[in-house]
Amino acid sequence: MTQELSTQENVAETRSGQPRAALASVTPFRVMSVMQRAHELECAGNQIVHLEVGEPDFSTAQPIVEAGKAALDAGLTQYTAATGLAALRGKISERYRLQHGLEISPERILITPGASGGLLLLAHLLVGQGDGILITDPAYPCVRNFIKLRDASPQLVPVVRAASYQPSVEDLMAQRTDATRGVWLASPNNPTGTILDRSQLSALSAWTRREGLHLLVDEIYHGLHFVDDLPSVLEVDDSAFVVNSFSKYFGMTGWRLGWIVVPEAFIDTARTLAQNMYISASSIAQHAALAAFEPETQVILDSRREEFRRRRDYMVEELTALGFVLPQEIAGAFYVYADCSKFSDDSEAFCKRMLEEYGVAMTPGTDFGDASARTMLRLSFTTSMAQLQIAIARLRAALA
Ligand SMILES: Cc1ncc(COP(=O)(O)O)c(C=O)c1O
Repeated sequence: MTQELSTQENVAETRSGQPRAALASVTPFRVMSVMQRAHELECAGNQIVHLEVGEPDFSTAQPIVEAGKAALDAGLTQYTAATGLAALRGKISERYRLQHGLEISPERILITPGASGGLLLLAHLLVGQGDGILITDPAYPCVRNFIKLRDASPQLVPVVRAASYQPSVEDLMAQRTDATRGVWLASPNNPTGTILDRSQLSALSAWTRREGLHLLVDEIYHGLHFVDDLPSVLEVDDSAFVVNSFSKYFGMTGWRLGWIVVPEAFIDTARTLAQNMYISASSIAQHAALAAFEPETQVILDSRREEFRRRRDYMVEELTALGFVLPQEIAGAFYVYADCSKFSDDSEAFCKRMLEEYGVAMTPGTDFGDASARTMLRLSFTTSMAQLQIAIARLRAALA
C-alpha cells in the first residue's frame, strides 16, 4: 500500500500538467473574445451591432432542413464511407462540370467535417515537421495555426491593397526558403474578399510546378462572389489541392460539412487519414446537403448572395465616406477589410473603444496577420441592412 502510494505520488510529481510547449504559439481567435465581450455587454442591457461574426445570418435554407429531417426519420444516422456519400460526391463533381467546365472524378472529392476538417487533413497529408508553407498576411487565422500544429512554419507573405491583397510570384519568391514545401492561398480571401484571377492562378501554378511546391487554394467563398468570372484553381492546375465547404454559400455552418479535392495520386492516403481522423463527416448533414443542389434551393441561395451584394455596396459607400480605406474591389465573401489609420494606429484599441462606447463589434486586423494588422479592421456584413445602418450611424457619431 505504502509502495503504491509513493508510486502515485511520483507520477504526480513528474507529470507536467501543461500542454506541450509548442502549442503556446497557436494563437486564440481574437474575434471570439470580441464576441464574448459583446455578449456580456448585451446581457447588461446594451444593444450591440455584430460586425465581427464570420457566418451568414440566414439560417439553413428550408429544403436542406427538410432533407436533414427526412434523413433522421429514415434512420440514416450511421457512419458513411470515410470519403463521404457517393451521391454527394457526384453532385459536387457535377457542380464543377456545370460551373467550371471541369471533369473532376468523384473519387478525387472527399467529404470532410467543414473546410476546417479538410484543412487539417491536408495539413497532415502535405506538411511535415520543419516544413515551410507560404501563406498571405493577412489570411484566415486557423491556417497558420494548422501549419504550426504540424511543427512546421507558416511563412508570411505580406500583401498590399495595390495588389488586391493577393500575392504575385515575386512576393512568394521573396519569402521562400529551402524549407518551403507549398503555397496555401484563398480566393476569395478572408478577411479581404479579394480574389485570384485566371492569369494570377496560372502564374502561381506555373511557378509552384516548376519549383516542386504543392499549391492549395481555399475556395470556401465560391458562390458568394460578386464578379462574373471566379475561376477555380483546378481550371488551370489539375494537380492543385482545393478546400471548399457547405458553410458559407450553402449556409450550413453548424452542420459541419465541407470537401476537398486532391490529385489522383493522393486519394488513397487522404482516405486513410479521413478514416483515422474522423471516420466520416456527419451522415445527417451529408443527406441534407444533397438537397443543396436542387434548383429550388439554388434560387434561395442565389437570392441571399444578392442580399450580400446589396449590403456590400452599402458598406463600401458609407465606410469610404467616413474615411476608411477599403480594397479596390470586394469580389466575394462578406467582409470589408478596412484601413482605419486615419483614426487610429492601434486597431485593437479602436475596436475596443467602438464596442465599449458605441456598441459596434468589429474584429481587429491582428487576428489575420502581422504586416499592417495594427491599422486594419474586419467588418462582416452578416447582419441585416437595418443593423448595418445603425452601425454606420454609430461609427459616424464616434468619428465626428
Ligand atoms: C477562409 C476560410 N477557410 C475555412 C474556414 C472554416 O470553415 P468551415 O465552417 O467550413 O470549417 C473559414 C471560416 O470562416 C474561412 O473563412
